[in-house]
Amino acid sequence: MTSKQFGKLSDGREVTLYTLQNKKNATVALSNLGAALVSVIVPDKSGVLADVLLGHENAQGYVDDNSYLGFIVGRYGNRIAKGRFSLGGKTYQLGINDGENHLHGGKDGFHRKLWDATINTKSPFDSVTMHCVSPDGEEGYPGKVLLDVTYTWNDNNELTIEYRGTTDALTVLNPTSHGYFNLTGDPRNTILGHELMIAARQYTPAGPGRIPTGKLQNVDGTPLDFRSPKRISDGINDPFEQLQSAKGYDHNWVLNDFDKTVHRAATVHDPKSGRFMEVLTDQPGLQFYTGNFLDGSLKGKGGIAYQYRSGLCLEAQYFPDSPNKPQFPSVVLKPGETYRQTTKYRFSTTD
Ligand code: BGC
Repeated sequence: MTSKQFGKLSDGREVTLYTLQNKKNATVALSNLGAALVSVIVPDKSGVLADVLLGHENAQGYVDDNSYLGFIVGRYGNRIAKGRFSLGGKTYQLGINDGENHLHGGKDGFHRKLWDATINTKSPFDSVTMHCVSPDGEEGYPGKVLLDVTYTWNDNNELTIEYRGTTDALTVLNPTSHGYFNLTGDPRNTILGHELMIAARQYTPAGPGRIPTGKLQNVDGTPLDFRSPKRISDGINDPFEQLQSAKGYDHNWVLNDFDKTVHRAATVHDPKSGRFMEVLTDQPGLQFYTGNFLDGSLKGKGGIAYQYRSGLCLEAQYFPDSPNKPQFPSVVLKPGETYRQTTKYRFSTTD
C-alpha cells in the first residue's frame, strides 16, 4: 500500500491517491475525492499489465468530471423521477440535475465529497475504508447518513467493495460504484468487441427521462438478452426502441436469484487480450451502460479523449426510481438498521 498527494481542492484541502498492490504486481488505485476507483492495472493473457479503467490523472480531473468516472455515487445511484418521493407520510423534493429528474445523488452527491480514509494493512490483504457523512437534508434527503466503503484487493486480482450505511431518520439509500471498464487496456479502443453475460431473465424497461415504467420485461427475444455471452456490438445498434431511446445500452437488469447473498451477476471478456472480468454482487439490479454520453470532449489519463463506446459500466444497485415503485425491492433504511452491499470485480485471463 502506498499513498501520495493527488492534488488539492480550491479550498486547499489535500486529495490523496492510495495504491494497493498484490503479490501478482497487479494494482488498484483509489482517491478519497468521491471515494473513486482511479485505476485497475491487471495482466492480459501474456502477462502484460495495463489499466482497464477510465479515469483522470489528478484530483482536478475528478473535480471537473461530469461523467462520474469511477466515483461512488449516492445517496441514490441512478434516477428518482422528478426528484420526488414520499416516505413515512412526508414528501421529499431532491435536487434536480438530469432534465426534470434526480440522478446519482444530485449535483453535490457523494462524488463531490472528500471522504476520510482509513488504511488497513493488518488483514491478509490491504484495504482502504472511506467514510462519509451526509447531513440531514443534503440534496433534499431525510436523515443524517454515515456511509463506509471498503475497497480490498486480494492476490486473486479480486476487488471487493463493501458498503455499510446507517441513518438517524427514515430514509432511502442506494449507492453504487460507477467505474468505466475497457478490458483492452487502451481506451482508444471501443468496448464493442467485448463479450458480455448478464445473469438476468428480466430488465426494467425505461420510459421518458430513462425512468422505469415499473414493469419487468423478459429479455427473451430482445437485444437485452445476455444470458449467454454475446458480443456487445451484436445488438447495440438494433432498432429495438429501448436501445434507440437510450443511444445504446443504459438499462437495469433484474438479476436472477436475488436473496441478499453474493452471486455472479455478469462476466465480460475481451477475446483479443484474453482479459476476463466477473461481477459478483448481493444487489437485485445491475445497470449496464455503454458510455452513450461520452463524445470525445472528456480527456482522461494520458490525455486520451474518451470517445463514444470507450468504456462500459456495470453498476450493482437497487432498481432506478424504487422510492416511487412499491413493487420494486425496497431501498428504505430505518434508524437502527445497517445498509449493506458487497460487490466484487474479479479479473483473470483466458487463452
Ligand atoms: C446512467 C446513465 C447516465 C450515466 C452518467 C449511468 O449510470 O445509467 O443514464 O447518463 O450514468 O454518467
